[in-house]
Order: sequence, then C-alpha cells, then structure tokens
Amino acid sequence: MSIQSLFKPFTYRNLELKNRIVMAPMTRAQSDKGVPTQQIADYYARRAGAEVGLILSEGTVIDRPASKNIQNIPDFYGTDALNGWKNVIDAVHENGGKMGPQIWHVGDTRSSEDYPLVEMEKASTMTLEDIKDTITKFAESAKAAKDLGFDVLEIHGAHGYLIDQFFWEGTNTRTDEYGGKTISERSRFAVDVVKAIRAAVGEDFTIILRLSQWKQQDYTARIANTPEEMEEWLLPLRDAGVDIFHCSQRRFWEEEFEGSDLNFAGWAKKITGQPTITVGSVGLDGDFMKAFAGEGTEKKTDFTELTRRLERGDFDLVAVGRAILQDPEWVLKIKDNKTDELENFSAESLAVLY
Ligand SMILES: Cc1cc2nc3c(=O)[nH]c(=O)nc-3n(C[C@H](O)[C@H](O)[C@H](O)COP(=O)(O)O)c2cc1C
Repeated sequence: MSIQSLFKPFTYRNLELKNRIVMAPMTRAQSDKGVPTQQIADYYARRAGAEVGLILSEGTVIDRPASKNIQNIPDFYGTDALNGWKNVIDAVHENGGKMGPQIWHVGDTRSSEDYPLVEMEKASTMTLEDIKDTITKFAESAKAAKDLGFDVLEIHGAHGYLIDQFFWEGTNTRTDEYGGKTISERSRFAVDVVKAIRAAVGEDFTIILRLSQWKQQDYTARIANTPEEMEEWLLPLRDAGVDIFHCSQRRFWEEEFEGSDLNFAGWAKKITGQPTITVGSVGLDGDFMKAFAGEGTEKKTDFTELTRRLERGDFDLVAVGRAILQDPEWVLKIKDNKTDELENFSAESLAVLY
C-alpha cells in the first residue's frame, strides 16, 4: 500500500474527495482591504489543478470589529469580499478541486503594530451581547460559504485565537456561563458557535473544526491532559454538529498521551468516531515555527510513518502546509513517485503568492 493509501478517495456523507491530501489553511495576508484578488484565486486554482484533494483557505474573518490582526487578511463578509471568494471557489471548481474557507476571529492577539488602521483599544472581556453577536456573525459567514458554493467550511478553533481563548484556562477567566473550571464549561462558546453554524447551513453541509492543544502564546499549553478530558472537550462539539476534527500538531508523529503512540488526530477519531485530519511537518524535516523565524526546512521523502498511521485507521485525511505553499505540484510529485523532484521549503516563499 504505502503511498497509495494517500490516494484512496474519501467519502463522508455527500462530500467526495479524490484523495486524502488537504491543503492546510495558511494566512497570506495579501487581500487588499480584505478582498481576495484574482492572484489569490489563481494561487488556489493552481493547487486544485494539481490534485490537492481538499483546499482549506487561509483564515478569513467574520464581521466583528476586532476579528483580524493584519489589514490584508481577507474578510468573509460584505459584498466585495464575498464576490472575491466567489471568484476563488469558481476557479477551484473549474480546476477540479474542492474547497472550504477557514472562518476565523483572532481574539485578543492584535497589537497596534500589526494593525495601525484604527486606534487600538486594549482587548477587553466580551460582554454577553458581544458573544451573542459574534456567534451570529460566525453563522452568517458559514451560510455565505454554503451559498457561494464552497464544499465544506472550517471553523478556526485552534492556536490561541478567539475560540481557543475560551477553551484555555490560561485565557478564560470568566465567571459567567462561558467560563468555568472544567473544559466542558469553557467549551460552551465553541458549542454555541457550532450549533448556530449547523442551524445556518443545514444537515448536509460538512463542518470541520480545527483544534490544537498548543497555543502560539505557549507551545506547551494543553487543554486536555488525559483521554477523559479529551472526551469532555470533543464529545459536546461532535454533538453540536462537528463532522470532521482537524487536529493541529506541529509534528504529526508525536504521541498525545503517554502509553500509546496515537497522535491527536488518532485520539480524536477514537473518542468521537468521526473522521479526523492530521497535520504537522508532513514531507518536511522541521516544524513550521521555523518558517516565521525566516528559516528554511529540508524536505523529507519517506512517508512510511505517515502511511502506517493512515492505514491503521488513526485518521482519514492529511493536511500539508508549507510543502504545498512552496510547491503547487507537491501532490502530483508524490503520486507519480517523483520524490527526487520535491523541493526544500524556503522561508522566502512566504512572500510570494504563486
Ligand atoms: C505561512 C503560514 C500561515 C499559516 N496560517 C494559518 C491559518 O491562517 N490558520 C491556521 O489554522 N493555521 C495556519 N498555519 C498553520 C498551518 O495550517 C499548519 O498547521 C502548519 O504549517 C503545520 O503544517 P506544515 O508542517 O505542513 O507546514 C499557518 C502556517 C504557515 C506556515
């Protein structure tokens, strides 16, 4: 089997993917005033045409005043931005691809250096009214994704941004019904977001939720310290309407809990019975934080460990970030066994939109 297992079609209800490879969401921040350009449509369409099974867009934000931390992050609301996204999904479909937007709110991660557009206010605790409106705006963006013709959508619940700030005890110090000592109490905001999105998109539209234990603020932070805590975290989210859990790690081969070699996606699948996506340094020999430090990463051409886990049924899909950013044809090269043509990741490619 080996590499061929990555090329088995994947079906989940009415979602059909030609292979198991997902382009991971990667912020490019090149959407002038929040509107995705033709160049962005071309960038995604190029990867659709080169057989990426499912493309997840860069994080794209909901209609709330502080939802983005860089001006040129794309919006997922408003006529101009949504027209831009329509152009993107049409181009992806014309090239035989499938795609979902990653719907995002950055929470308390803005700084005035990042975002000199408006006078910055220090982030403050959201009122119940803010929370209600934020949930509504997530649902509106989700409905827009479906109406524009996207195949799935992903909610960004990872990496220390808004939804994750509710999950994590380090940032959620609320004393009302959106806070609490247990992870199931602190999950209430995410559960309400998922329920509102499910109500807005109906039963048949696939909802992916991206989660991580780690935060950009703290790599060693953990939300679930035991499989029991992971059950408390994930089961209410599944019951609220999540179809697929996208389990973000920096290195996919790292075990989640002592005593088992299952990774995060492996545990999430075992606990929820739902399909999962793994991610983290696939095809590369170093994790992605190096990219932000301006460092390149050597390619890796041995996929045995990845396919061993996939064939064992630990997860269903494999997201690939930097390798596909670097090389639009990465999937074709893997498929055709042209591993000698794979490229090292160069941090300079972050500035290029090709
Ligand atoms: C330039 C860049 C931008 C990223 N932006 C996002 C993002 O918008 N949303 C998100 O969930 N993850 C984001 N990530 C994380 C990636 O989705 C992925 O999890 C990470 O790069 C690990 O995969 P890799 O080792 O295959 O690159 C970003 C990563 C990179 C390199």
